[in-house]
Formats: sequence, C-alpha cells, structure tokens
Amino acid sequence: MDVVSLFCGCGGLDLGFEKAGFNVVWANDIDKYAVKTYNVNFQNKAICQDIYEINIDEIPNCDVLIGGFPCQPFSMMGEEKGFADRRGVLFFRIEEIIRAMINRGHKPTVLVFENVRNLKNHDKGRTFAKIKDILENNLNYRVYSKILNSADFGVPQTRNRTYIICFDKDVNFVFPQKIGLKITLQDLLEHDVEQKYYLSDKILPTILSSGTGGYFSQWKIDLPVARPLCATMAKMHRANQDNYVTQNGKIRRLTPRECARLQGFPDSFIIPVSDSQAYKQFGNAVTVNVSNAIAIQIKKALEVSENEQ
Ligand SMILES: C[S@@+](CC[C@H](N)C(=O)[O-])C[C@H]1O[C@@H](n2cnc3c(N)ncnc32)[C@H](O)[C@@H]1O
Repeated sequence: MDVVSLFCGCGGLDLGFEKAGFNVVWANDIDKYAVKTYNVNFQNKAICQDIYEINIDEIPNCDVLIGGFPCQPFSMMGEEKGFADRRGVLFFRIEEIIRAMINRGHKPTVLVFENVRNLKNHDKGRTFAKIKDILENNLNYRVYSKILNSADFGVPQTRNRTYIICFDKDVNFVFPQKIGLKITLQDLLEHDVEQKYYLSDKILPTILSSGTGGYFSQWKIDLPVARPLCATMAKMHRANQDNYVTQNGKIRRLTPRECARLQGFPDSFIIPVSDSQAYKQFGNAVTVNVSNAIAIQIKKALEVSENEQ
C-alpha cells in the first residue's frame, strides 16, 4: 500500500510502516536537517519545503496518509475570519490535502496521526474535538484514538503519545497489545564514548541541582527506563528532567546513537547531522516499534475487513 508522509522528520513513523511492508512514495518536512537524515536512510526522497508552499496537485494519491503534526490550538484563531486565519494551523492543511485526494477520486483508506499525550486536554479539549469533528463529519472517517507508551513496546523509554487511526469504512481496528520490556537503558548504552558527552565538574552542580525557590524536584540519574526524549535535548537540562547515566565512574549525557536506539532505530540508521540536530530529530520522532506495531494492526484489520466482503 502506498503511503504519503507529512511532517516526516527523520522518519520514525515512516520506518515503522516500511518495516510492516508499506511503501512510502512521498514525504515532506520543512526542516532541512531532518530531510538530510531522512534522505540518506530512505529510498524515497523527502521534499524540503513548508507544507503550505507545496502545490497540493504534486502530492500523489495514496492508500495511507501518515503524519505527526505539531500541536496547535485552533481556538487562537477566530473562526469567523475564514480561510486566511486557517493558514498556519497545520491540521487544516492536512484536511485540504485529503480533500484534494477525495476530489481526484482517491480517498485514502487509512489516516494515521501522532501527537502529544495531552492532545485530548489541549486548549480545554477544543483542539481534539475540532480534529475529530473534521475527520468524522467533514471527511467521513471512523476514528480510533489511544495513548500508547513506547516502554510497552520493547524500548526502555517512557513516552506516552496520542495515536489517531482513521478508516474510510467500518473496520474493526484493535490497537496493538503491549509486548512488555525486557531491556533497560543500560543495555542500550555505547561503550567508549567521546569525552564531550561527560559532564564537566563546572556544570555538574547545575545539572544535579534539585531546583530553586519554590520549585523542588528530586533528581535521579541511571534510570532503567529513560524519561521521554525531547526535541530540546541539545540544551543541558537538569537531571530531574533529562537522562544522565554513570559510566566509568563519571556522569554523562546520552549520545545521539543511544537516543536513536531509545526510539527503536536500528544501528544501520545513518546519522549525517550534528549532535544538536540529531537530538532534535530523535526527540521529535515517533518510536519505530510503536509505529511498526500500529502498522501491523492496520494491515490485519484491513485483511479481516476484505475477507468479510
Ligand atoms: C513531531 S515532528 C515529526 C516526527 C516524525 N513523524 C518522525 O517520526 O520522525 C514534526 C515535524 O513537523 C515539521 N514541520 C513543522 N511545520 C512544518 C511545515 N509548515 N511544513 C512542513 N513540515 C513542518 C517539523 O520540522 C518536524 O520535523
């Protein structure tokens, strides 16, 4: 089945689908460094452009449309101002792209979206309600949504994300079962890492500080299951927010390769960008194991539905 990938980043979502046998035929992201990583690792080459600058007619028809789109409040804009105001709210662009495919007589069979855990509560529930309304009532899809934790799918990272799966017909979709966790963060560590990843004596007190003023939070390092990787990981965070490990008796941050592993990317995945870009890309990515488990369930649901017809 052909897949169009919007907001592809370095390709976590895409990799999970390709591993399940789907064929990504078109991908896009605005970030040139993410596209660089994507393009050295995938046969299909992503286009680096703002999705609003892309001519919709150039986006091919597809069976499955996937995307982890940035979360934005819809209520920031006054609905009465109409189309001009819709620009910038990326979910509306997704709607336009799907509409264009429908008008060309090729409605995608499945839509897959990933977003932050808090999507359902974002902007007092209005963001999710609007997304669901567009998908169900404007585009006529059956919508399934669930929060899944990457740690339940074999990678030692607590990462709760909202997944929205939509079908163009009545399909009995079941979210993937938890497979559990057999490894820890320590099992994924590289050995003999460069000195630059170790914390200097100068920065150590700041990193290990438990907070200032009214804010106090106990720091912990060497967690067996990592805290969620975040896109701003290149900046040093306190040890109560980020992941630090002890190796050779010294404390260090994670390397980009370790972050890739925590997101389910294989070691054959090439990292052609600077550390700070790599941290951002893996911090933004969908965990490959979760994406793959969802893709497999979609295939199963479609097979059952076809056999029933
Ligand atoms: C959460 S990340 C996607 C991660 C990706 N799905 C993965 O699994 O690796 C969101 C992406 O949206 C991209 N983005 C944000 N605004 C955009 C726009 N206007 N046009 C195209 N891409 C955009 C960002 O550069 C970022 O890579």
